[in-house]
Amino acid sequence: MKSKSWIEGDLESLALRWRRDRLWILDQQALPHEELWMEIHNSRDMIGAIQSLKVRGAPLIGVAAALALVKDLMQFREISYTEFRKLAEDLAESRPTAINLRNSLQRMMHDLSEANFRSQVPTRAHAIFLEDVELCQRMASHGASLIQPGERILTHCNTGGLATVGSGTALGVIRQAHEWGREIHVHVDETRPLLQGARLTTWELNKLKIPYTLNTDSMAGYLMQLKRIDRVLVGADRICRNGDFANKVGTYSLAVLCRHHQIPFHCVAPMTTYDPRCGRGEDIPIEERTPEEVLGYVRHNGVTQWAQVGSAVFNPSFDMTPASLVTSFITDEGVFSSDQWLERQRMS
Ligand code: MRU
Repeated sequence: MKSKSWIEGDLESLALRWRRDRLWILDQQALPHEELWMEIHNSRDMIGAIQSLKVRGAPLIGVAAALALVKDLMQFREISYTEFRKLAEDLAESRPTAINLRNSLQRMMHDLSEANFRSQVPTRAHAIFLEDVELCQRMASHGASLIQPGERILTHCNTGGLATVGSGTALGVIRQAHEWGREIHVHVDETRPLLQGARLTTWELNKLKIPYTLNTDSMAGYLMQLKRIDRVLVGADRICRNGDFANKVGTYSLAVLCRHHQIPFHCVAPMTTYDPRCGRGEDIPIEERTPEEVLGYVRHNGVTQWAQVGSAVFNPSFDMTPASLVTSFITDEGVFSSDQWLERQRMS
């Protein structure tokens, strides 16, 4: 491997650590009660971590997968290019909806050959990490410019430093507005079934000292009726050419509620979440997960079941929001209404 400089040093984000050629992830299933760091030795370990949501959030899984490939080169020193390609293909299959994973691996593997893959892979993984930090900064400043002093913002799932290697997508905007002194208050959807809002977003907001109130997902409508919400910010796992997008299940309901209550609804995502091969929302593969997550609560150290044993379960991890319900897309390239988004994709 040629590009040794960064590999021998440190790369650090809230949920990923590269320290002197060792890779660690913060186990997000153990948060907020325990901060457990787990070592990842190769892409097999990373696939397990991604599938069990120890590593999660669309941009983060893209970056984490790229770093896992670097570990493969270090662990399997005699690996052929064909064997290496297979590892990358397996990684790309680990979660189906977030396009950042495939986009990142496609960039990692583009135009590689037996002759250059050992030198190119570390360089590209490093660039993908640094780029995500930069993209978050750009989204944050575009988005925070829209926020008025005193706004009460509702958000869904976790879209912060735990879901990216930078400040986040929707939560990055919230953080920037707070740092600019906009005196905002955040309403956090708990985000059933895996409680990314209640476990992870509250953990981040608490660390950042941003005032927040937690609600169950089903309380969002009543909060809007009470006129306690000025704006909704969510992330995305995949945005189509027509602007329809997939995000954590429950996002669509929020978008419909916002339309009814005339509340601005924004999708915050980097262009690495854009899938030009997907024409419209119906084309997005939606991951379905195990019934246990809905029958009760799956913790990192066990399962609590409260539903009737044997109940039939529907457990899509994401849903699809049509572009027509989006006030604007806040991206690293600027802020676009759904018409502007469509026009841009038509021109490109
Ligand atoms: O299943 P998860 O926790 O990976 O889902 C995450 C989300 O839905 C986020 O909103 C999304 O990845 C975009 S924000 C970084």
